[in-house]
Amino acid sequence: MRTQVAIIGAGPAGLLLSYLLHLEGVDAVVLESRDREYVRKRVRAGVCEQPTIELLREIGVGRRLDAEGMPHEGFSLRFDGADHRIAITELTGKTIAVYGQQEIVKDLIDAHEERGLPVEFAVSSVELSDMDTASPAVRYRDADGVERTLECDAIAGCDGFHGICRPSIPSGVLHTFDREYPFAWLGVMAETPPSHEELIYAHHERGFALHSMRSPELTRLYLQIDPAEELAAWSDDRIWSELAVRLETSADFSLKEGPILDKSITPMRSFVTEPMSYGRLFLAGDAAHIVPPTGAKGMNLAVADVRVLSRALTSLLRGDSMLAESYSDICLRRVWRAEHFSWYMTSMLHADPAADDFQRRLQLSQLRYTASSRAAATSLAENYAGLPFE
Ligand code: APR
Ligand code: PHB
Repeated sequence: MRTQVAIIGAGPAGLLLSYLLHLEGVDAVVLESRDREYVRKRVRAGVCEQPTIELLREIGVGRRLDAEGMPHEGFSLRFDGADHRIAITELTGKTIAVYGQQEIVKDLIDAHEERGLPVEFAVSSVELSDMDTASPAVRYRDADGVERTLECDAIAGCDGFHGICRPSIPSGVLHTFDREYPFAWLGVMAETPPSHEELIYAHHERGFALHSMRSPELTRLYLQIDPAEELAAWSDDRIWSELAVRLETSADFSLKEGPILDKSITPMRSFVTEPMSYGRLFLAGDAAHIVPPTGAKGMNLAVADVRVLSRALTSLLRGDSMLAESYSDICLRRVWRAEHFSWYMTSMLHADPAADDFQRRLQLSQLRYTASSRAAATSLAENYAGLPFE
């Protein structure tokens, strides 16, 4: 079998890249290890930056995002028992949308199916070869276990942090930057209306908590927990009472409880690999970098990467390799901005178990300054709403 671009992974990065290439007239095949239902249902984060919204709209896959996504013009920093609103739209002129990543994945899968674009689910034993030549190849087993080879002109490694593309690059080529945090997030999806119209990022001495949502009937909540803790230690009762303590305010606020539909634990890490390419293999999204979820940047960065990559590959296949050569440098500028922003939001909001009184006072001072200075709030809002694409 032959295609122009073999794309490994059907997350937001792989699916969007495939669709963008299709619009440029470039053929691609997406290979995904999980089955179709699993990919459509996997619960992930849910904030779309303005540049992401505009791109999805521009390419014609933003219809459901516009109809069902929830536009937000601000969010709350909650600390000292009170809300301090960051007025994103007033400060930056931009709006974000709360729309689950899995909904974007569904919209992209539907767009592929409507146009007959190839996505192979449930493949296994994926192996890359000849990435340092002009004709690389991907060997894999299809859903029926039949061994296949996909010959191509380029490979896009969109297979997430635990994928095989990054480890297929010979050792010594990549430089990685890594930071683990002494906490994880316990995320829950609850069948209950949101308790507040906007997102609440709460800093509390017992740990960070986040109130988010998916629809007028679904609330998404997160708690900072010890990374060594297991899901079994968190009964629904314990989750609700911990959320209530951390989200408490002196003003009128009551947390609406409801049945918990989904629970999961996400470790918190920052990770970047440089460069994001090797020969004809190009890494995009979580395969190349991870941010802690506090800044809501993970999916948005994946979108920004593949926007550049689709153009770089299109020109490469037409004989101009200039953009492909600068793909990594172009992406890494935005990646490091998002790395810094995500680290800053994470450090400002979480309770670090190793922090001393001095650090705790600094943290509170940073929160109070951000909430009271228009300049500081604008900087936060500008990064949160998404800096313009390059
Ligand atoms: N072969 C084929 N597919 C693979 C393989 C493999 N060896 N390994 C992993 N995959 C698939 C995964 O099953 C997943 O569907 O690659 C896909 C990677 O998708 P994501 O993890 O969603 O990564 P990405 O598309 O880069 O999107 C980044 O997703 O993880 C969140 O927070 C992150 O929001 C960010 C976004
Ligand atoms: C979510 O709704 O899942 C969400 C929102 C904001 C974040 C992270 C996750 O910073």
